[in-house]
Amino acid sequence: MKATSITGVYKEKNRIYTENLPCCKGSTVYNERIVYYRDREFRSWNPYRSKLAAAISNGLKISFKTDSKILYLGAATGTTVSHVSDIVRDGWVYAVENSPVAMKKLLYTCGKRHNVIPVLADANHPERYGSIVSGVDFVYQDVSQRNQAEIFKTNVFRYLKKNGEGVLMVKARSIDVSLKPKKAYELVCLELEDAGLKIERRIDLHPYDKDHMVILVSYF
Ligand SMILES: C[S@@+](CC[C@H](N)C(=O)[O-])C[C@H]1O[C@@H](n2cnc3c(N)ncnc32)[C@H](O)[C@@H]1O
Repeated sequence: MKATSITGVYKEKNRIYTENLPCCKGSTVYNERIVYYRDREFRSWNPYRSKLAAAISNGLKISFKTDSKILYLGAATGTTVSHVSDIVRDGWVYAVENSPVAMKKLLYTCGKRHNVIPVLADANHPERYGSIVSGVDFVYQDVSQRNQAEIFKTNVFRYLKKNGEGVLMVKARSIDVSLKPKKAYELVCLELEDAGLKIERRIDLHPYDKDHMVILVSYF
């Protein structure tokens, strides 16, 4: 097991891992493989189940630190949230999700994780979680909505600290099914740039996800 250049992400052969939090020893979130190395417990991070793992496997470098505060939009049942929680062990993950059914599962899968703060809310209205969330180091979004760029911008401008970074997982078909994926990505990038965000990287998630692109932005 070797550390990678991304804090908290490890590699063995061609698989990536995060180290399970001490409070969650022995437990899995989505039946992922657990491996032990020098008395430490690592959870396999499956790029076919998590777009962030797919993006990292395809070369994305993210600036998470062990004490980072992450605003995570579209938390679903906690698959990726749990790995982010392993990484920012001394920080916080504000896990925003608008489906009560998904949130119930998230509470079950991530309830023991001391650094995950579940927020049942619509990410279209960031002002509704203003009493819970404050200045974050990173905004991560995976919501598959037509107005995903708009949702991302409003959350970035409200909560991301200056010099922070954000990742937007773009699902081309959610933007407009009649558009070619390349055109949909172009439109999203233009919208983010027009708002003053700098596009640092764009990476296709093939072969792990079809017609998905990750966009890494910075905010000055
Ligand atoms: C593709 S899934 C996210 C998967 C998750 N990021 C993972 O890797 O484990 C998208 C999630 O976003 C949620 N969602 C969609 N629109 C939303 C909104 N406006 N506000 C908050 N959550 C939203 C959906 O309910 C769904 O659970």
